[in-house]
Amino acid sequence: MEKLLSQLADDCSNILKSNPGPEGRVQVANLLAELLADAENIETLIPDTTGERDLLFENTDLGFCILAHQYKGPKSSPPHDHGESWAIYAQARGETEMTDYELVSAASADTPGKVRATKTYRLTPGDVHVYDEGDLHSPTREGPTSLLRIEGMDLSKVKRLRYEAVA
Ligand SMILES: [Fe+2]
Repeated sequence: MEKLLSQLADDCSNILKSNPGPEGRVQVANLLAELLADAENIETLIPDTTGERDLLFENTDLGFCILAHQYKGPKSSPPHDHGESWAIYAQARGETEMTDYELVSAASADTPGKVRATKTYRLTPGDVHVYDEGDLHSPTREGPTSLLRIEGMDLSKVKRLRYEAVA
């Protein structure tokens, strides 16, 4: 494995092992912000060949995953949380407009939940944001973007509930 990636994986593992709660995630976020400050690191971890969702590393013991994302054009997602997991978004290139939501009514397997927007903000290169379990948000990207993301568990294997935004 690439040295930078294995170092990052080890650092995350050490932090999350001794601090699996929200505080540990803030430490991981700080680590990512430091890493993204160096353009060479971005080129190494998110090269031009990166796809929309590349799993770079999975810690099978703690469950967390390091992912690289590259969107060549506009890319938006509807309001969502990360189920039982948390996620850290680290913007590397381009801009993401993020909206946070409060829960109005809970989702079930066959009925989308209802959510209301509470705040909208921009993630620009170097910005890192932690979304804890249940934090609802939706990203809008109008141009090409790339980011690093760390998930508490591989969310592609988790059944996700749907949410609809209400005024
Ligand atoms: Fe998300």
